[in-house]
Amino acid sequence: MKGRDKMNALTARLGIKYPIFQGGMAWVADGKLAAAVSNAGGLGIIGSGHAPASYVQEQIDIARELTDKPFGVNMMLLSPFVDDVLEVVLKSNVALVTTGAGDPAKYLKRLQAQNIMVLPVVPSVGLAKRMARQGVDGVIAEGMESGGHIGQMTTMTLVPQVVDAVDIPVIAAGGIGDGRGLAAALALGAVGVQMGTRFLTATESRIHENYKAAVIKAKDVDTLVTGQYVGHAARVLKNPMSRNFLKLEREIALSGSDDFKAVEELGNGSLRKAVLDGDRDEGSFMAGQISGLVKREESSAEIIQSVMAEANALLDHSALQQQLQVNES
Ligand SMILES: Cc1cc2nc3c(=O)[nH]c(=O)nc-3n(C[C@H](O)[C@H](O)[C@H](O)COP(=O)(O)O)c2cc1C
Repeated sequence: MKGRDKMNALTARLGIKYPIFQGGMAWVADGKLAAAVSNAGGLGIIGSGHAPASYVQEQIDIARELTDKPFGVNMMLLSPFVDDVLEVVLKSNVALVTTGAGDPAKYLKRLQAQNIMVLPVVPSVGLAKRMARQGVDGVIAEGMESGGHIGQMTTMTLVPQVVDAVDIPVIAAGGIGDGRGLAAALALGAVGVQMGTRFLTATESRIHENYKAAVIKAKDVDTLVTGQYVGHAARVLKNPMSRNFLKLEREIALSGSDDFKAVEELGNGSLRKAVLDGDRDEGSFMAGQISGLVKREESSAEIIQSVMAEANALLDHSALQQQLQVNES
């Protein structure tokens, strides 16, 4: 439980009320969503994806206009614009940077020199340890239940092993959608959670109504993982696009070829088509296995209040400890 005593230090250092991050989702998490989450007491995070620096600047400006609370930016390290995005972020005085695919080592010192905390998303103990050695401020341990790009470990198995392996705060992500998930993450030794899928259907989320409706309609088994053969696995809702993608990449792999150009072309721009056009045939509706728990559109404030109320009720001694009563009968 090494990370647990750092909880107050983390939320205090960030200046947020509740230990809930909203995942910096490419195309989805804009300045408006991030500001709504930060205003509600969590930490909103703008997703920069592969967007140019001017987009990131614009979204930071929007968030600043809508909130005086801290918020963060997710930097996609494989983006061709990452160096320019870094310059924008350095000038913008954001509280925190999370990083997706790639190694943030090159950017770490400059960000931290501006008092910007850096928390990479990690899918394994090995990577968590490497990041800790490089001096990051914490890690986000993300299980494969999550929406978007994923690793192989589940949140239940990954989080306690990362907590034991590193001496920095660990945030749990992947499959957390309500107060039970938050309470469970804390029990595993995390100091907070990052949720993506639950915020997809927030009132302030920009995604197309078809995308929101698909998340709300989805059952527990309604996601699949594409890109495993190509080498970048992503969890998305089942729809004509994801089924076609999977079929094509399987066919290529089974033919013994490693030329996945055709399937990569199919995927290009597909998240944008889902978010902006709600296109079921060509859009990748990225979402996690917790979609089955998401029942309605609600404001970010309602989401955060209900998650906190439920976690508080559960962690109140009597509620959970009752389950440990010895059965004497
Ligand atoms: C539509 C979508 C896009 C995402 N894009 C990114 C991204 O650009 N960078 C990143 O680090 N994580 C990304 N994620 C992952 C989330 O930030 C978050 O860690 C994840 O959704 C948590 O799991 P959950 O979906 O089960 O809540 C994305 C997730 C979704 C659903």
